[in-house]
Amino acid sequence: MLSFLLVLFAFELCHGSQRPLVIGHRGTAYLPELTLASQSMAHAYGADIIEIDVCLSRDNHLIVIHDINLDGVTNVADVFKNRSRSDGFHYVIDFDLHELRSLNVHERVRPLNGTQVFPLRFPSKSNVHFHLSTLNETIELLLNLNRATGRQRQLLIEIKKPEYHSKYNKSISSIVVATLKSYNLTQSTDPIILQTFHIEELMNIRKNLSSQLRLFALMTWNYVGESSSDYDFYRSEQGIRNLSKVVQGLAPDHQFVVNYDGNGTIISTSNFTKWAHQYGLSVYPYTFRKDLFLGSSFEQLVEYFWHEAQVDGFITDNPDVILELLQRGQISASSYTIVLNIFLSMFTFLFHIIRI
Ligand SMILES: *[C@@H]1O[C@H](CO)[C@@H](O)[C@H](O)[C@H]1NC(C)=O
Ligand SMILES: *[C@@H]1O[C@H](CO)[C@@H](O)[C@H](O)[C@H]1NC(C)=O
Ligand SMILES: *[C@@H]1O[C@H](CO)[C@@H](O)[C@H](O)[C@H]1NC(C)=O
Ligand SMILES: *[C@@H]1O[C@H](CO)[C@@H](O)[C@H](O)[C@H]1NC(C)=O
Ligand SMILES: *[C@@H]1O[C@H](CO)[C@@H](O)[C@H](O)[C@H]1NC(C)=O
Ligand SMILES: *[C@@H]1O[C@H](CO)[C@@H](O)[C@H](O)[C@H]1NC(C)=O
Ligand SMILES: *[C@@H]1O[C@H](CO)[C@@H](O)[C@H](O)[C@H]1NC(C)=O
Ligand SMILES: *[C@@H]1O[C@H](CO)[C@@H](O)[C@H](O)[C@H]1NC(C)=O
Ligand SMILES: *[C@@H]1O[C@H](CO)[C@@H](O)[C@H](O)[C@H]1NC(C)=O
Repeated sequence: MLSFLLVLFAFELCHGSQRPLVIGHRGTAYLPELTLASQSMAHAYGADIIEIDVCLSRDNHLIVIHDINLDGVTNVADVFKNRSRSDGFHYVIDFDLHELRSLNVHERVRPLNGTQVFPLRFPSKSNVHFHLSTLNETIELLLNLNRATGRQRQLLIEIKKPEYHSKYNKSISSIVVATLKSYNLTQSTDPIILQTFHIEELMNIRKNLSSQLRLFALMTWNYVGESSSDYDFYRSEQGIRNLSKVVQGLAPDHQFVVNYDGNGTIISTSNFTKWAHQYGLSVYPYTFRKDLFLGSSFEQLVEYFWHEAQVDGFITDNPDVILELLQRGQISASSYTIVLNIFLSMFTFLFHIIRI
Protein backbone atom coordinates (compact mmCIF):
# COMPACT_ATOMS: atom_id res chain seq x y z
CA MET A 1 0.00 0.00 0.00
CA LEU A 2 2.74 2.39 0.98
CA SER A 3 4.77 1.60 -2.10
CA PHE A 4 1.66 2.08 -4.20
CA LEU A 5 1.23 5.53 -2.68
CA LEU A 6 4.88 6.34 -3.25
CA VAL A 7 4.49 5.44 -6.91
CA LEU A 8 1.33 7.53 -7.04
CA PHE A 9 3.20 10.39 -5.37
CA ALA A 10 6.07 10.21 -7.88
CA PHE A 11 3.60 9.99 -10.76
CA GLU A 12 1.57 12.97 -9.58
CA LEU A 13 4.68 15.01 -9.00
CA CYS A 14 5.87 14.34 -12.54
CA HIS A 15 2.41 14.85 -13.95
CA GLY A 16 2.02 18.12 -12.07
CA SER A 17 5.32 19.41 -13.42
CA GLN A 18 4.47 18.72 -17.05
CA ARG A 19 3.28 21.69 -19.01
CA PRO A 20 2.35 22.20 -22.64
CA LEU A 21 5.04 23.71 -24.88
CA VAL A 22 4.92 27.37 -25.82
CA ILE A 23 5.42 28.25 -29.48
CA GLY A 24 6.22 31.89 -30.31
CA HIS A 25 4.05 32.65 -33.36
CA ARG A 26 6.15 34.64 -35.88
CA GLY A 27 8.40 35.41 -32.89
CA THR A 28 6.43 37.62 -30.53
CA ALA A 29 3.72 40.28 -30.71
CA TYR A 30 6.11 42.97 -29.48
CA LEU A 31 8.29 43.57 -32.54
CA PRO A 32 7.42 43.41 -36.26
CA GLU A 33 6.54 39.81 -37.09
CA LEU A 34 9.22 37.34 -38.21
CA THR A 35 12.12 39.79 -37.94
CA LEU A 36 15.30 38.38 -36.42
CA ALA A 37 14.66 40.80 -33.52
CA SER A 38 11.20 39.33 -32.88
CA GLN A 39 12.55 35.78 -33.03
CA SER A 40 15.37 36.65 -30.63
CA MET A 41 12.83 38.07 -28.22
CA ALA A 42 10.81 34.84 -28.28
CA HIS A 43 14.04 32.93 -27.64
CA ALA A 44 14.90 35.17 -24.70
CA TYR A 45 11.41 34.90 -23.21
CA GLY A 46 11.77 31.16 -23.07
CA ALA A 47 9.47 30.04 -25.88
CA ASP A 48 10.24 26.35 -26.41
CA ILE A 49 9.70 26.69 -30.14
CA ILE A 50 9.80 29.67 -32.53
CA GLU A 51 7.33 29.52 -35.43
CA ILE A 52 8.25 31.03 -38.83
CA ASP A 53 6.94 30.97 -42.42
CA VAL A 54 8.91 30.70 -45.65
CA CYS A 55 8.22 31.69 -49.29
CA LEU A 56 10.50 31.50 -52.33
CA SER A 57 12.03 34.51 -54.08
CA ARG A 58 12.31 34.60 -57.88
CA ASP A 59 15.92 33.37 -57.56
CA ASN A 60 14.88 30.48 -55.26
CA HIS A 61 16.00 31.80 -51.89
CA LEU A 62 13.80 31.01 -48.91
CA ILE A 63 12.48 34.26 -47.47
CA VAL A 64 11.05 34.35 -43.95
CA ILE A 65 7.67 36.05 -44.49
CA HIS A 66 4.06 35.16 -43.73
CA ASP A 67 2.27 36.12 -46.95
CA ILE A 68 3.07 35.44 -50.59
CA ASN A 69 2.87 39.23 -51.09
CA LEU A 70 4.99 41.90 -49.43
CA ASP A 71 2.49 44.70 -49.02
CA GLY A 72 1.27 44.35 -45.42
CA VAL A 73 4.71 44.34 -43.80
CA THR A 74 7.20 46.15 -46.06
CA ASN A 75 7.70 49.44 -47.92
CA VAL A 76 7.80 47.60 -51.28
CA ALA A 77 5.27 49.96 -52.89
CA ASP A 78 7.56 52.95 -52.20
CA VAL A 79 10.77 51.23 -53.29
CA PHE A 80 9.55 49.40 -56.42
CA LYS A 81 6.98 51.70 -57.98
CA ASN A 82 6.26 49.68 -61.11
CA ARG A 83 6.45 46.09 -59.88
CA SER A 84 2.95 45.36 -58.63
CA ARG A 85 0.68 42.93 -60.41
CA SER A 86 -2.73 43.86 -61.80
CA ASP A 87 -4.28 43.35 -58.34
CA GLY A 88 -1.99 46.07 -56.96
CA PHE A 89 0.06 43.67 -54.80
CA HIS A 90 3.79 42.93 -54.92
CA TYR A 91 4.65 39.24 -54.80
CA VAL A 92 7.76 37.76 -53.15
CA ILE A 93 8.17 35.40 -56.10
CA ASP A 94 8.59 38.36 -58.52
CA PHE A 95 11.68 39.67 -56.68
CA ASP A 96 15.29 38.54 -56.30
CA LEU A 97 16.98 38.27 -52.92
CA HIS A 98 19.10 41.42 -53.40
CA GLU A 99 15.93 43.42 -54.11
CA LEU A 100 14.10 41.98 -51.10
CA ARG A 101 17.08 42.87 -48.92
CA SER A 102 16.63 46.55 -49.82
CA LEU A 103 13.17 46.69 -48.20
CA ASN A 104 12.27 47.84 -44.70
CA VAL A 105 9.93 45.72 -42.60
CA HIS A 106 7.34 47.26 -40.29
CA GLU A 107 4.51 46.20 -38.00
CA ARG A 108 1.62 44.72 -40.03
CA VAL A 109 -0.82 47.18 -41.62
CA ARG A 110 -3.84 46.82 -43.87
CA PRO A 111 -2.39 47.47 -47.34
CA LEU A 112 -5.50 49.35 -48.49
CA ASN A 113 -5.47 52.17 -45.93
CA GLY A 114 -2.23 51.70 -44.02
CA THR A 115 -3.85 51.28 -40.58
CA GLN A 116 -2.22 48.88 -38.11
CA VAL A 117 -3.90 45.49 -37.77
CA PHE A 118 -3.07 45.50 -34.03
CA PRO A 119 -3.19 49.19 -33.11
CA LEU A 120 -1.46 48.88 -29.73
CA ARG A 121 1.57 46.96 -31.00
CA PHE A 122 4.94 48.39 -32.16
CA PRO A 123 4.21 51.51 -34.26
CA SER A 124 4.30 50.75 -37.99
CA LYS A 125 5.74 54.20 -38.64
CA SER A 126 8.96 54.26 -36.68
CA ASN A 127 12.53 55.11 -37.57
CA VAL A 128 13.77 51.72 -36.40
CA HIS A 129 14.73 49.76 -39.50
CA PHE A 130 13.94 46.07 -39.67
CA HIS A 131 14.66 43.81 -42.64
CA LEU A 132 13.59 40.57 -44.27
CA SER A 133 15.81 37.57 -43.65
CA THR A 134 16.44 34.21 -45.27
CA LEU A 135 15.80 30.77 -43.77
CA ASN A 136 19.59 30.35 -43.56
CA GLU A 137 19.91 33.40 -41.33
CA THR A 138 17.05 32.26 -39.12
CA ILE A 139 18.57 28.78 -38.71
CA GLU A 140 21.94 30.29 -37.84
CA LEU A 141 20.30 32.71 -35.40
CA LEU A 142 18.59 29.81 -33.62
CA LEU A 143 21.60 27.48 -33.51
CA ASN A 144 23.95 30.25 -32.38
CA LEU A 145 21.52 31.60 -29.76
CA ASN A 146 21.07 28.05 -28.45
CA ARG A 147 24.83 27.76 -28.22
CA ALA A 148 25.35 31.17 -26.61
CA THR A 149 22.57 30.77 -24.03
CA GLY A 150 22.94 27.03 -23.43
CA ARG A 151 19.19 26.67 -24.05
CA GLN A 152 17.66 24.33 -26.59
CA ARG A 153 14.93 26.16 -28.47
CA GLN A 154 13.46 24.73 -31.68
CA LEU A 155 12.17 26.08 -34.99
CA LEU A 156 8.71 25.29 -36.39
CA ILE A 157 8.91 26.11 -40.10
CA GLU A 158 5.71 26.59 -42.10
CA ILE A 159 6.15 25.88 -45.80
CA LYS A 160 3.80 28.40 -47.42
CA LYS A 161 1.49 27.35 -50.23
CA PRO A 162 3.34 24.49 -51.96
CA GLU A 163 0.65 24.38 -54.67
CA TYR A 164 1.11 28.10 -55.50
CA HIS A 165 4.89 27.62 -55.71
CA SER A 166 4.52 24.59 -57.98
CA LYS A 167 2.64 26.77 -60.50
CA TYR A 168 5.99 28.55 -60.93
CA ASN A 169 7.72 25.17 -61.28
CA LYS A 170 9.27 25.61 -57.85
CA SER A 171 9.30 22.78 -55.34
CA ILE A 172 9.49 24.81 -52.16
CA SER A 173 9.54 21.71 -49.94
CA SER A 174 12.55 20.26 -51.76
CA ILE A 175 14.41 23.53 -51.28
CA VAL A 176 13.49 23.65 -47.57
CA VAL A 177 14.64 20.07 -47.02
CA ALA A 178 17.88 20.69 -48.99
CA THR A 179 18.59 23.90 -47.06
CA LEU A 180 18.12 22.11 -43.73
CA LYS A 181 20.35 19.31 -44.99
CA SER A 182 23.11 21.85 -45.69
CA TYR A 183 23.02 22.48 -41.91
CA ASN A 184 22.97 18.73 -41.18
CA LEU A 185 19.41 19.10 -39.90
CA THR A 186 17.83 15.86 -41.12
CA GLN A 187 16.71 13.82 -38.10
CA SER A 188 13.61 13.71 -35.90
CA THR A 189 15.87 14.56 -32.95
CA ASP A 190 17.07 17.80 -34.59
CA PRO A 191 15.49 21.06 -33.32
CA ILE A 192 13.33 21.47 -36.44
CA ILE A 193 9.67 20.74 -37.19
CA LEU A 194 8.11 21.28 -40.63
CA GLN A 195 4.44 22.15 -41.08
CA THR A 196 2.16 23.10 -43.93
CA PHE A 197 -1.55 23.40 -44.65
CA HIS A 198 -1.20 21.23 -47.74
CA ILE A 199 -1.55 17.83 -46.10
CA GLU A 200 -0.65 15.78 -49.18
CA GLU A 201 2.62 17.74 -49.37
CA LEU A 202 3.53 16.34 -45.95
CA MET A 203 3.13 12.88 -47.43
CA ASN A 204 5.37 13.98 -50.30
CA ILE A 205 8.02 15.25 -47.84
CA ARG A 206 7.93 12.00 -45.89
CA LYS A 207 7.74 9.57 -48.82
CA ASN A 208 9.15 11.24 -51.94
CA LEU A 209 11.74 13.43 -50.23
CA SER A 210 12.45 10.68 -47.63
CA SER A 211 12.74 13.23 -44.83
CA GLN A 212 13.02 11.98 -41.24
CA LEU A 213 12.23 15.42 -39.77
CA ARG A 214 9.20 15.82 -37.52
CA LEU A 215 6.13 16.94 -39.50
CA PHE A 216 2.97 18.71 -38.31
CA ALA A 217 -0.30 19.10 -40.22
CA LEU A 218 -1.76 22.60 -40.15
CA MET A 219 -5.55 22.60 -40.37
CA THR A 220 -8.17 25.23 -41.05
CA TRP A 221 -11.70 25.44 -42.43
CA ASN A 222 -12.08 24.28 -46.02
CA TYR A 223 -13.78 27.57 -47.02
CA VAL A 224 -10.59 29.53 -46.20
CA GLY A 225 -8.98 27.96 -49.28
CA GLU A 226 -5.47 27.61 -47.78
CA SER A 227 -4.87 24.50 -49.89
CA SER A 228 -6.76 21.79 -51.77
CA SER A 229 -6.62 19.47 -48.73
CA ASP A 230 -9.92 18.35 -47.23
CA TYR A 231 -9.71 19.37 -43.58
CA ASP A 232 -13.24 18.06 -42.89
CA PHE A 233 -11.77 14.61 -43.53
CA TYR A 234 -8.41 15.14 -41.82
CA ARG A 235 -10.00 16.31 -38.58
CA SER A 236 -12.30 13.29 -38.38
CA GLU A 237 -11.16 10.24 -36.42
CA GLN A 238 -10.45 8.39 -39.67
CA GLY A 239 -8.49 11.35 -41.04
CA ILE A 240 -6.41 11.71 -37.88
CA ARG A 241 -5.65 7.99 -37.96
CA ASN A 242 -4.56 8.33 -41.58
CA LEU A 243 -2.33 11.31 -40.74
CA SER A 244 -0.73 9.49 -37.81
CA LYS A 245 1.10 7.26 -40.30
CA VAL A 246 2.98 10.30 -41.61
CA VAL A 247 3.08 13.15 -39.07
CA GLN A 248 4.00 13.62 -35.42
CA GLY A 249 1.48 16.32 -34.64
CA LEU A 250 -1.44 18.51 -35.64
CA ALA A 251 -1.64 22.30 -35.60
CA PRO A 252 -5.37 22.99 -35.86
CA ASP A 253 -7.43 26.16 -35.67
CA HIS A 254 -8.36 26.38 -31.97
CA GLN A 255 -12.02 26.02 -32.98
CA PHE A 256 -11.38 22.38 -33.94
CA VAL A 257 -10.28 21.61 -30.39
CA VAL A 258 -13.07 23.24 -28.38
CA ASN A 259 -16.64 24.20 -29.21
CA TYR A 260 -17.73 27.82 -28.69
CA ASP A 261 -21.21 29.35 -28.57
CA GLY A 262 -22.20 32.29 -30.78
CA ASN A 263 -20.71 34.70 -28.21
CA GLY A 264 -17.29 33.04 -28.23
CA THR A 265 -17.79 31.35 -24.87
CA ILE A 266 -16.39 27.82 -24.62
CA ILE A 267 -19.11 25.16 -24.31
CA SER A 268 -17.13 21.91 -24.44
CA THR A 269 -14.10 20.15 -25.85
CA SER A 270 -14.41 18.37 -29.18
CA ASN A 271 -12.98 14.88 -29.69
CA PHE A 272 -9.98 16.27 -31.57
CA THR A 273 -7.30 16.04 -28.87
CA LYS A 274 -8.64 12.70 -27.64
CA TRP A 275 -8.33 11.19 -31.11
CA ALA A 276 -4.91 12.77 -31.72
CA HIS A 277 -3.57 11.33 -28.45
CA GLN A 278 -5.17 7.98 -29.22
CA TYR A 279 -3.04 7.85 -32.39
CA GLY A 280 0.09 9.20 -30.70
CA LEU A 281 -0.03 12.73 -32.12
CA SER A 282 0.68 16.05 -30.35
CA VAL A 283 -1.74 18.97 -30.70
CA TYR A 284 -0.57 22.61 -30.96
CA PRO A 285 -3.61 24.78 -31.74
CA TYR A 286 -3.24 28.35 -33.09
CA THR A 287 -3.33 31.33 -32.49
CA PHE A 288 -3.54 32.60 -28.91
CA ARG A 289 -3.45 36.42 -29.08
CA LYS A 290 -3.81 38.40 -25.90
CA ASP A 291 -4.86 41.54 -27.85
CA LEU A 292 -8.18 39.89 -28.60
CA PHE A 293 -9.19 39.22 -24.99
CA LEU A 294 -10.31 41.43 -22.14
CA GLY A 295 -9.58 41.11 -18.43
CA SER A 296 -8.97 37.57 -17.21
CA SER A 297 -10.65 35.88 -20.19
CA PHE A 298 -7.27 35.08 -21.81
CA GLU A 299 -6.12 33.33 -18.64
CA GLN A 300 -9.36 31.32 -18.51
CA LEU A 301 -8.96 30.31 -22.14
CA VAL A 302 -5.39 29.10 -21.54
CA GLU A 303 -6.50 27.20 -18.42
CA TYR A 304 -9.28 25.49 -20.37
CA PHE A 305 -7.06 24.46 -23.28
CA TRP A 306 -4.45 23.16 -20.84
CA HIS A 307 -6.59 21.20 -18.38
CA GLU A 308 -9.79 20.36 -20.27
CA ALA A 309 -8.70 20.14 -23.91
CA GLN A 310 -5.26 18.86 -22.82
CA VAL A 311 -3.30 20.36 -25.68
CA ASP A 312 0.44 19.73 -25.95
CA GLY A 313 1.41 23.23 -27.08
CA PHE A 314 0.13 26.78 -27.51
CA ILE A 315 0.96 28.66 -30.72
CA THR A 316 0.85 32.22 -29.43
CA ASP A 317 1.85 35.81 -30.20
CA ASN A 318 2.46 36.21 -26.44
CA PRO A 319 4.83 33.43 -25.35
CA ASP A 320 5.83 35.38 -22.22
CA VAL A 321 2.22 35.66 -21.02
CA ILE A 322 1.39 31.99 -21.60
CA LEU A 323 4.65 30.80 -20.01
CA GLU A 324 3.86 32.84 -16.92
CA LEU A 325 0.33 31.40 -16.71
CA LEU A 326 1.60 27.85 -17.17
CA GLN A 327 4.37 28.27 -14.59
CA ARG A 328 1.96 29.79 -12.08
CA GLY A 329 -0.53 26.95 -12.74
CA GLN A 330 2.24 24.39 -12.37
CA ILE A 331 3.28 25.72 -8.98
CA SER A 332 -0.27 25.63 -7.67
CA ALA A 333 -0.80 22.18 -9.21
CA SER A 334 2.33 20.73 -7.59
CA SER A 335 1.67 22.30 -4.17
CA TYR A 336 -1.84 20.84 -4.36
CA THR A 337 -0.28 17.45 -5.15
CA ILE A 338 2.13 17.70 -2.23
CA VAL A 339 -0.66 18.55 0.25
CA LEU A 340 -2.80 15.72 -1.13
CA ASN A 341 0.03 13.23 -0.82
CA ILE A 342 0.97 14.27 2.71
CA PHE A 343 -2.67 13.70 3.59
CA LEU A 344 -2.69 10.29 1.87
CA SER A 345 0.58 9.24 3.58
CA MET A 346 -0.84 10.16 6.97
CA PHE A 347 -3.94 8.18 6.17
CA THR A 348 -1.86 5.12 5.25
CA PHE A 349 0.20 5.49 8.39
CA LEU A 350 -2.96 5.49 10.55
CA PHE A 351 -4.38 2.65 8.52
CA HIS A 352 -1.29 0.55 9.28
CA ILE A 353 -1.39 1.36 13.01
CA ILE A 354 -5.05 0.43 13.21
CA ARG A 355 -4.48 -2.80 11.28
CA ILE A 356 -1.54 -3.76 13.46
C1 LIG B 1 22.11 28.67 -47.44
O1 LIG B 1 21.28 29.05 -48.53
C2 LIG B 1 21.78 28.79 -49.82
C3 LIG B 1 20.77 29.26 -50.86
O2 LIG B 1 19.47 29.38 -50.42
C4 LIG B 1 22.17 27.35 -49.96
O3 LIG B 1 22.62 27.04 -51.24
C5 LIG B 1 23.20 27.03 -48.90
O4 LIG B 1 23.69 25.74 -49.04
C6 LIG B 1 22.59 27.25 -47.54
N1 LIG B 1 23.33 26.67 -46.43
C7 LIG B 1 24.47 27.05 -45.83
C8 LIG B 1 25.02 26.17 -44.76
O5 LIG B 1 25.03 28.07 -46.12
C1 LIG C 1 10.51 49.83 -63.68
O1 LIG C 1 11.35 50.89 -63.24
C2 LIG C 1 12.72 50.65 -63.42
C3 LIG C 1 13.48 51.79 -62.82
O2 LIG C 1 12.95 52.17 -61.60
C4 LIG C 1 13.04 50.46 -64.89
O3 LIG C 1 14.38 50.13 -65.04
C5 LIG C 1 12.18 49.35 -65.46
O4 LIG C 1 12.35 49.25 -66.85
C6 LIG C 1 10.70 49.60 -65.18
N1 LIG C 1 9.94 48.43 -65.59
C7 LIG C 1 8.77 48.51 -66.18
C8 LIG C 1 8.13 47.20 -66.53
O5 LIG C 1 8.24 49.54 -66.39
C1 LIG D 1 -9.07 50.78 -42.61
O1 LIG D 1 -9.62 49.54 -43.06
C2 LIG D 1 -10.17 48.75 -42.01
C3 LIG D 1 -10.60 47.41 -42.60
O2 LIG D 1 -11.04 47.51 -43.90
C4 LIG D 1 -11.31 49.49 -41.34
O3 LIG D 1 -11.85 48.71 -40.30
C5 LIG D 1 -10.77 50.81 -40.77
O4 LIG D 1 -11.83 51.55 -40.21
C6 LIG D 1 -10.10 51.62 -41.87
N1 LIG D 1 -9.50 52.79 -41.25
C7 LIG D 1 -9.41 53.97 -41.84
C8 LIG D 1 -8.75 55.06 -41.06
O5 LIG D 1 -9.84 54.13 -42.94
C1 LIG E 1 6.70 25.15 -65.92
O1 LIG E 1 7.23 24.05 -66.66
C2 LIG E 1 6.41 23.66 -67.74
C3 LIG E 1 6.99 22.40 -68.34
O2 LIG E 1 8.37 22.44 -68.36
C4 LIG E 1 6.31 24.80 -68.73
O3 LIG E 1 5.46 24.45 -69.78
C5 LIG E 1 5.73 26.03 -68.02
O4 LIG E 1 5.72 27.14 -68.88
C6 LIG E 1 6.53 26.38 -66.79
N1 LIG E 1 5.84 27.41 -66.04
C7 LIG E 1 6.45 28.45 -65.53
C8 LIG E 1 5.60 29.43 -64.79
O5 LIG E 1 7.65 28.65 -65.63
C1 LIG F 1 27.73 18.80 -41.53
O1 LIG F 1 28.39 17.60 -41.21
C2 LIG F 1 29.56 17.39 -41.98
C3 LIG F 1 30.10 16.00 -41.67
O2 LIG F 1 30.08 15.80 -40.29
C4 LIG F 1 30.57 18.51 -41.72
O3 LIG F 1 31.70 18.34 -42.51
C5 LIG F 1 29.91 19.85 -42.04
O4 LIG F 1 30.77 20.91 -41.69
C6 LIG F 1 28.59 20.02 -41.29
N1 LIG F 1 27.95 21.23 -41.77
C7 LIG F 1 27.45 22.16 -40.96
C8 LIG F 1 26.85 23.37 -41.63
O5 LIG F 1 27.45 22.06 -39.75
C1 LIG G 1 5.61 11.55 -55.30
O1 LIG G 1 6.24 11.67 -56.53
C2 LIG G 1 5.52 11.05 -57.60
C3 LIG G 1 6.37 11.10 -58.82
O2 LIG G 1 7.07 12.31 -58.94
C4 LIG G 1 4.20 11.78 -57.78
O3 LIG G 1 3.46 11.22 -58.82
C5 LIG G 1 3.41 11.69 -56.49
O4 LIG G 1 2.22 12.46 -56.59
C6 LIG G 1 4.23 12.18 -55.34
N1 LIG G 1 3.52 11.86 -54.14
C7 LIG G 1 3.02 12.78 -53.35
C8 LIG G 1 2.33 12.29 -52.13
O5 LIG G 1 3.12 13.97 -53.57
C1 LIG H 1 -4.43 7.79 -46.15
O1 LIG H 1 -3.07 8.06 -46.24
C2 LIG H 1 -2.39 7.49 -47.35
C3 LIG H 1 -0.94 7.87 -47.27
O2 LIG H 1 -0.40 7.58 -46.01
C4 LIG H 1 -3.01 7.92 -48.64
O3 LIG H 1 -2.37 7.30 -49.72
C5 LIG H 1 -4.48 7.58 -48.62
O4 LIG H 1 -5.09 8.04 -49.79
C6 LIG H 1 -5.16 8.19 -47.41
N1 LIG H 1 -6.56 7.82 -47.34
C7 LIG H 1 -7.53 8.69 -47.46
C8 LIG H 1 -8.91 8.14 -47.35
O5 LIG H 1 -7.35 9.88 -47.63
C1 LIG I 1 -25.04 35.44 -26.12
O1 LIG I 1 -25.16 36.17 -24.90
C2 LIG I 1 -26.43 36.75 -24.70
C3 LIG I 1 -26.37 37.60 -23.45
O2 LIG I 1 -25.69 36.94 -22.41
C4 LIG I 1 -27.48 35.64 -24.61
O3 LIG I 1 -28.75 36.17 -24.44
C5 LIG I 1 -27.44 34.82 -25.89
O4 LIG I 1 -28.32 33.73 -25.79
C6 LIG I 1 -26.05 34.31 -26.18
N1 LIG I 1 -26.03 33.71 -27.52
C7 LIG I 1 -25.55 32.49 -27.74
C8 LIG I 1 -25.58 32.02 -29.15
O5 LIG I 1 -25.12 31.78 -26.84
C1 LIG J 1 -16.99 12.12 -29.55
O1 LIG J 1 -16.87 10.73 -29.67
C2 LIG J 1 -17.90 10.01 -29.03
C3 LIG J 1 -17.59 8.54 -29.21
O2 LIG J 1 -16.25 8.28 -28.90
C4 LIG J 1 -19.23 10.36 -29.62
O3 LIG J 1 -20.27 9.69 -28.92
C5 LIG J 1 -19.47 11.85 -29.54
O4 LIG J 1 -20.64 12.19 -30.22
C6 LIG J 1 -18.29 12.59 -30.15
N1 LIG J 1 -18.48 14.00 -29.94
C7 LIG J 1 -18.34 14.89 -30.89
C8 LIG J 1 -18.52 16.33 -30.48
O5 LIG J 1 -18.04 14.58 -32.03
